[in-house]
Amino acid sequence: MSIAEKFVSMEYGPAPEDPKEAAAWLDRHKRRFDFFINGEWKSPAAGVYFDTLDPSTGEKLASVAQGTAADVDLAVNAARAAFPSWRALSPHVRARYLYALARLVQKHSRLLAVLETMDNGKPIRESRDIDIPLVARHFYYHAGWAQLLPQEFPDHEPCGVVGQIIPWNFPLLMLAWKIAPALATGNTVVLKPAEFTPLTALLFAELCHEANLPAGVVNIVTGDGSTGEALVKHPNVDKIAFTGSTEVGRAIRSATASSPKRISLELGGKSPFIIFEDADLDSAVEGLVDGIWFNQGQVCCAGSRLLMQESIAEPLIAKIRDRMSTLRVGAPLDKAIDIGAIVARVQLDRIQRMVAQGVAEGATCWQPELALPSRGFYFPPTLLSNVHPTSIVAQQEIFGPVLAAMTFRTPREAVELANNTVYGLASCVWSENINVALHVAAQIKAGVVWVNCTNLFDAACGFGGYRESGYGREGGREGLLEYLQPKWLMQAPKLPSAPPKSTPQNDDIDSTSTPAIDRTVKLYIGGKQARPDSGYSMEVRASDGRLLGEAPLGNRKDIRNAVEAARKAESWGNTTAHNRAQVLYYCAENLGLRRNEIISRLSAVTGEQQATSEVDLGIERIFTYAAWADKFDGAVHNPPFRNISIAMNEPIGTVAVICPADAPLLGFLSLVMPLLAMGNTVVAVPSENYPLITGDLYQLFDTSDLPSGAVNIVTGYVSQLLKTLAEHDDIDAIWCYGDDATVASAKAMSIGNLKQVWTNDGRVIDWFNPAVAEGRWFLEHATQVKNIWVPYGE
Ligand code: NAI
Repeated sequence: MSIAEKFVSMEYGPAPEDPKEAAAWLDRHKRRFDFFINGEWKSPAAGVYFDTLDPSTGEKLASVAQGTAADVDLAVNAARAAFPSWRALSPHVRARYLYALARLVQKHSRLLAVLETMDNGKPIRESRDIDIPLVARHFYYHAGWAQLLPQEFPDHEPCGVVGQIIPWNFPLLMLAWKIAPALATGNTVVLKPAEFTPLTALLFAELCHEANLPAGVVNIVTGDGSTGEALVKHPNVDKIAFTGSTEVGRAIRSATASSPKRISLELGGKSPFIIFEDADLDSAVEGLVDGIWFNQGQVCCAGSRLLMQESIAEPLIAKIRDRMSTLRVGAPLDKAIDIGAIVARVQLDRIQRMVAQGVAEGATCWQPELALPSRGFYFPPTLLSNVHPTSIVAQQEIFGPVLAAMTFRTPREAVELANNTVYGLASCVWSENINVALHVAAQIKAGVVWVNCTNLFDAACGFGGYRESGYGREGGREGLLEYLQPKWLMQAPKLPSAPPKSTPQNDDIDSTSTPAIDRTVKLYIGGKQARPDSGYSMEVRASDGRLLGEAPLGNRKDIRNAVEAARKAESWGNTTAHNRAQVLYYCAENLGLRRNEIISRLSAVTGEQQATSEVDLGIERIFTYAAWADKFDGAVHNPPFRNISIAMNEPIGTVAVICPADAPLLGFLSLVMPLLAMGNTVVAVPSENYPLITGDLYQLFDTSDLPSGAVNIVTGYVSQLLKTLAEHDDIDAIWCYGDDATVASAKAMSIGNLKQVWTNDGRVIDWFNPAVAEGRWFLEHATQVKNIWVPYGE
């Protein structure tokens, strides 16, 4: 027999990883686990435990405490008590603790990997070679940030007590993504692991103990969704960081809307995997294996939608099937296994249900012939072809080893299909033509684009979504900002609550003071002055009660028109930063030319002194953002692979802005200019006190080469316009300046499409103080980071 023939006939022998150490660890705990609170094991107040299973057999591994609100309360109190001294520690000492945790993860890496595989069902190859090394890397990387914090973030402070809720697909890795940046920035933590996979978090608790981490800095409370809910609702938690389903993300948005809690959400995805005809098809197929069959496809950024250029679809499908036939499904502790077990029976049922529905909707299902283990929860690698773009399997996250394949003809069509989803977490582009690949990468709405590679992660490269995949980033410099806040903000006083203004009834209108109306304005939509749909207007009065003029009362239809105009103008985001800077400088120049007339008009409501400052500082503020337009740029990361990762600050899209009432010009410019500088388009509701400023603003924009529709202004009452803006699915973010009640409504009403929300937390921002009213804080909220990974070398 020749060597070549031997290769063909050779079979894999079993190569099982020894679970002895992990079993001994479980036995040492008598296979029953309590919570880790204040540095100690605490039993549950209600005495209830639940089972965690080995998905490869369905057998019980251990029982784990079910947390109630009382247990969560204990943990939050411990974290609160530990916060002052943890935050006050020298950054170097905090860095040492993180470094110690990184070292301990490495020291216990095999035990962690085996335990992870037993609890989750993922192949040991993956937990050993990917998950656990990335966990260690995350702690190393953040030990570095802890050290550098005072130099790099001098004006920031930690949020306080952070509640962190993680999913089951990368249990320890998600823990590291959450805990490392939180601790590095001086926060304390209550973490709730997923109910299917709590074990490695409990082993990590022991590592915290071994590292002598001060008691209460890390607390782990196990339990199901109700435990998570109690954590989200706890009044003493300052921030919630969540990874999981979009549905629960929405529930968290809703539960926190009326509180000042900050939240970051990393949610689902339906990531496109685009293969062009000039791609290296064999590499692309290997990429697919890592893209959709890694971790049984239970990956938020799985390349679950294959978009193939039509000309290569047939040979590509043949190659994919060939490769699928060689994938080995089976006991995850076997080192030669590619696909392990699905995490739980309910997830397996869900995958089966969705595939059946996809087939009922016309997809062709292909699975290699292979024998699945007789016990445990397994699903074979699956290819669905002839999938219609509107099919459930093209639109919804399956979270299983299922690839849905579609074709496209041109790069443009590829981009359209890729973006035809509510999600925006990740994407892959395969082409040997780097120009095409990068051109397409720039157009895809997703937080990560892997060019000719897939599913690469590194602590230095921020990860997170666009659109309904959530917001906030994990990793990188931007990830730290999720756990920090500007020092001045927390010290700023609250805005007094203002009763909502609404359309005056006829009786309310003072008919005795009706001097000649010297000024009326219109709405400003798509670069044109527009009459309001309602045909009504609001009176605008001077501080002494004099009628100054009238402004239109915008309504739902006007907002819709404004949003449409803003969407059409989105090419503003593709103009060069230099060009945007020029337009902004031109705005400043034109404001300077009209200085005196605007001051004289504004004086009637604000007094001359404020009016003068608003105009003069307004000119400066525009200069500031013209200056930033070509300087708030991204970074090039150098992860530990033969790759660069280009972190680009991209505009968020169309942003609604509720402007401050009491600084009609300066407040408007302070919010709208950073958004414009970064390439967003805007629909703004100007000051309710002095909406007549719109007249001056549209003259300014009309004469400054700002493209039509880049800024649209709809005057009216915030109480009436906010709802339409917040609920509009074509608006990507809302910036709302207002009192507590207004801010809470903005948060509550924008849950539908999970808009990003920036608010003043109901606090006063002193628009006349450049130290707080301009700069990076605004720019960071006006952008989202996209990481484009590009490999190098042959
Ligand atoms: P899930 O979103 O329910 O669970 C994630 C975490 O949230 C768990 O720790 C869970 O206990 C907790 N949780 C559940 N309800 C909560 C609530 N009301 N308040 C606070 N915390 C709560 O995800 P599940 O049910 O495990 O999986 C369902 C689907 O979600 C999957 O099929 C997949 O499509 C998606 N998913 C996405 C993940 C991602 O990384 N993007 C991770 C896990 C699931």
